[in-house]
Amino acid sequence: MTEPTSGKAEADEPKLSSQVMSELHEIAGRYPQARSALLPMLHLVQSVEGCVTTAGIEACADILNLTAAEVAAVATFYTMYKRRPVGDHHVGVCTNTLCAIMGGDAIFERLKDHLDVGNDETTEDGKITLEHIECNAACDFAPVVMVNWEFFDNQTPESAAQLVDSLRSGEEVRASRGARISSWREAERVLAGYPDGRADEGPAAGPATLAGLALARRRGWRAPSGDGVPGTKPTDVVEAVEQADTQRAESETKVSESGAETKGDKDA
Ligand code: FES
Repeated sequence: MTEPTSGKAEADEPKLSSQVMSELHEIAGRYPQARSALLPMLHLVQSVEGCVTTAGIEACADILNLTAAEVAAVATFYTMYKRRPVGDHHVGVCTNTLCAIMGGDAIFERLKDHLDVGNDETTEDGKITLEHIECNAACDFAPVVMVNWEFFDNQTPESAAQLVDSLRSGEEVRASRGARISSWREAERVLAGYPDGRADEGPAAGPATLAGLALARRRGWRAPSGDGVPGTKPTDVVEAVEQADTQRAESETKVSESGAETKGDKDA
């Protein structure tokens, strides 16, 4: 059966509440170019709808003076935007190269089996949506699992299974480097620009991230002062900019003269 592109199904989709519309306008008003607000606006839509719905797309398009197709193109390009409802928690298992060889593939297989779902599917109780994700720039803690975009480092199939069990039973769960885990929708609201007060909870960096810094401190290494390196001190920066401007002007003059000569040569 062909999905209707317009008509009853979409007409019946509930519109966004006046509160949500007001917040979407508020987000749009934060940016000199209103269309720059589209990404956080889509996160707000997800925080109330559980995914990017047709009503959400149309609301963003109306407010930003874009077409629904333009908004949909953005929503379908970035993988953080979901076109199907996400469960209470989004569990992402990194299966990109480093995590995969460090055990990410095994974790993903274990969770599929443990939760009885496939990729991008939600458990029957609506609690967990499982998805394999690409590199999240946490390779120093591979293999990594993310819950509602918070990191769980150095996971194993066993620890990941315990993690989803804790989430399902409603226990308090803390990220390895981050805050207590809230729901996926609450996390989406934070991404829309409405802080939940948890930003400073938990450590921001782990030992693997800081290993280079610790080694440098032990050995007394310091960043170069910049002495003797042109362009690294404030006064040098000003001089370097002036020098670059002069060089560019000279080079543009040469190009222009050479063009004139060439033209003149041709004319002759
Ligand atoms: S490969 Fe998994 S975080 Fe980079």
